[in-house]
Amino acid sequence: MKKTVQIAIDGPASAGKSTVAKILAKKNGFIYCDTGAMYRAITLAALENNVDMDSEEALTSLLKRLTIDFSQEEDGQHVFLNEKDVTNEIRTNDVTNSVSKVSAYKSIREEMVHRQQVIAESSSIVMDGRDIGTVVLPKADLKIFLVASVIERAERRYKENIAKGIETDFDVLKQEIADRDHYDSNRKNSPLVQAEDAILVDTTGLNIEEVVESIEKHMKTLF
Ligand code: DC
Repeated sequence: MKKTVQIAIDGPASAGKSTVAKILAKKNGFIYCDTGAMYRAITLAALENNVDMDSEEALTSLLKRLTIDFSQEEDGQHVFLNEKDVTNEIRTNDVTNSVSKVSAYKSIREEMVHRQQVIAESSSIVMDGRDIGTVVLPKADLKIFLVASVIERAERRYKENIAKGIETDFDVLKQEIADRDHYDSNRKNSPLVQAEDAILVDTTGLNIEEVVESIEKHMKTLF
């Protein structure tokens, strides 16, 4: 086995990336990095500080003043923005509706990609996002592209939101997911695309265990 292993999981919103990535990381003793949470953290900071979302310059200067860290707690991974726990705040509708815009800026992506590559240097990692296999970890040992139908993804996110007490209209949510897919897949900088050497896993109709099992079969080739 190689000294460190990198697993890249990309795909559209709510395809199950983070759930699966967390399980794989835990089972294998790897660290887990949720890159979407990093884009959400800067979006939250921009909203809180009334930073103009139309200004790439203002957002880039904001990002330079932000530290974004992860810590593994008993109840799962927590996200810290300048040392404040923002694990729940980064999932609100306000953040979700603005994050695509913030994450589309070239200089924001460059800085985030750099930070993500530094995180991945230290140990074996499962990293999930949109551009992990294509840009962040192009030499990842295993690249998975996770997809699922819009309806199924909307149903999953709806259940998650309700469980977290976030008021949600299903049809609005479905439309937002479709819009975000379109935006993320058509943006100029690092659009969401499957890496040529990524394995496509369609999770429609599969439960989490089945998805994990399917990825673990591919992981066997690494050990
Ligand atoms: O996975 P998520 O919904 O938490 O991601 C939030 C947003 O960040 C989503 O609109 C796409 C963007 N993103 C990105 O552009 N690149 C990544 N590596 C991860 C997320």
